[in-house]
Amino acid sequence: MSERCIASLRLTTGDTALDVGCGAGRSFAELENRIGAKGTIIGIEQSPEQLAAARALVERCGWSNVLLINTPVEDAEIPFVADAALFSFTHDIMRTPSALRNVIEDLKPGGRIAAIGVKWTPWWHLITNWRTWRGSKDFVTTFEGFNKPWSHLENLVSSLEVECTTAPTPVIGRPGLYIAAAEK
Ligand SMILES: C[S@@+](CC[C@H](N)C(=O)[O-])C[C@H]1O[C@@H](n2cnc3c(N)ncnc32)[C@H](O)[C@@H]1O
Repeated sequence: MSERCIASLRLTTGDTALDVGCGAGRSFAELENRIGAKGTIIGIEQSPEQLAAARALVERCGWSNVLLINTPVEDAEIPFVADAALFSFTHDIMRTPSALRNVIEDLKPGGRIAAIGVKWTPWWHLITNWRTWRGSKDFVTTFEGFNKPWSHLENLVSSLEVECTTAPTPVIGRPGLYIAAAEK
């Protein structure tokens, strides 16, 4: 599912990709596969502990093209114009317009944006929504916007396509997930 989300960024060799709220760097390997050693990953993360884990991963893997920035996204000074931005399970950031604006301003015209995350399914999918709540409660500060996590993003981009799961699918994965793909 993350692979599918990252594929929608349409990265090519040498691209610069932002991993917004990169956490411990779970998406770095897939991004590296697509941009190669000539590309650049910029990971932005506010938690020093998460960023330390990301840094350890980068060192273990010997990647010399990853720049890590320890700051809230909304305050980040991003040193390069980027080709694409990934938001992987970053609900709090998706619900912070100033953070989205700061990232999108930094993308080149036509730059790609992809977000993957969890959302509520219709209320009668009680077990799915309970699982979503249980799996998310320690990772989000708000459930505001869980009906439509991309609602702020769609106001800031020129095109946006969304796929959601209400049942398990081989393509995206378990129920209660969405992938939003957009262009600046
Ligand atoms: C659930 S984790 C996902 C991490 C990673 N993207 C992944 O897919 O594994 C969400 C991350 O977003 C970070 N985060 C939340 N709000 C942020 C903000 N305003 N600026 C930077 N990072 C933020 C959290 O510290 C956390 O590491």
